[in-house]
Amino acid sequence: MPKSDLLHLADLSAPEIEGLIKRAAIYKKGSAERPLAGRSVGLLFEKSSTRTRVSFEVAIWRLGGLPIFLSFDDIQIKRGESIADTARVLSGYLDALVVRTYEQSKVEEWAQHASIPVINGLTDWHHPCQILADLFTIWEKRGGLKGQKLVYIGDGNNIAHSLIEGGAKVGMEIVIAAPEGFQPDPAIVKQGERMAEVSGGRVSVESDPHKAVQGADVLYTDVWVSMGQEAERAQRLQTLAPYQINQKLVDRAKDDVLVMHCLPAHREEEITAEVMEGRHSIIFAQSANRLPMQQAILELWVTN
Ligand code: CP
Ligand code: NVA
Repeated sequence: MPKSDLLHLADLSAPEIEGLIKRAAIYKKGSAERPLAGRSVGLLFEKSSTRTRVSFEVAIWRLGGLPIFLSFDDIQIKRGESIADTARVLSGYLDALVVRTYEQSKVEEWAQHASIPVINGLTDWHHPCQILADLFTIWEKRGGLKGQKLVYIGDGNNIAHSLIEGGAKVGMEIVIAAPEGFQPDPAIVKQGERMAEVSGGRVSVESDPHKAVQGADVLYTDVWVSMGQEAERAQRLQTLAPYQINQKLVDRAKDDVLVMHCLPAHREEEITAEVMEGRHSIIFAQSANRLPMQQAILELWVTN
């Protein structure tokens, strides 16, 4: 079978996403299958990470494989070796690469030159592994995904993009509530609308957070200053201030609304401590689910 990569969720079909969720559930129950025995996976990270790095390292180890963490500060890339040459060299030692980098074009470049599968561990544009774990979490809590209304409040960033793609594929209603200038990429929204037509879902963008949350089954937020945007901090905090998830906003959604955040969080910026620790929050169940979902992802991409 030719190598395939996981660069963004638009490439997956609804049955493939559902299959990953079912495998994640099996791993979560404690399956001791070791499909990565004798294999090694590199983790090439150009940005900081807590969850993605640790959940992938533990997942690879649990599946019987060898994780090798490769910081960009340590490898020869820093001294000018090209992505093309590095990808070809690493393909000689490893069975897959997880890459965390800036532009989406960079992860595509790694994938183009590697002869092993490349998994996107976050770019400025997408975070597919996070959203697969999130869909698994919603599926666990609700018993399904179709028709669930998820309202993402805040910056229309990588998380918003992957939520649009993943949610539209599985027939959810995805609403992104963001101010002008911080709304998701129109091309991704358009593509999401087309995917939703097929699945029976819906994708829309709204600027009024109070209107958007009405009837929400799930509220989701993320930091206002993503990695690489530190210079824009003051302006971002000011513009995004009305988009905080606080108790008042939660009270406008359904009574049993679930509150999610991919983490890391900045309490009292995009979400209040009260909501993070409140009865609607499933944020730490969500982060824990990264591990079984990484196992499902690795099994599919590394052993096929
Ligand atoms: N949510 C997430 O990807 O966290 P890290 O940046 O810590 O990996
Ligand atoms: N949007 C955030 C997500 C971190 C997991 C960032 O890119 O920094």
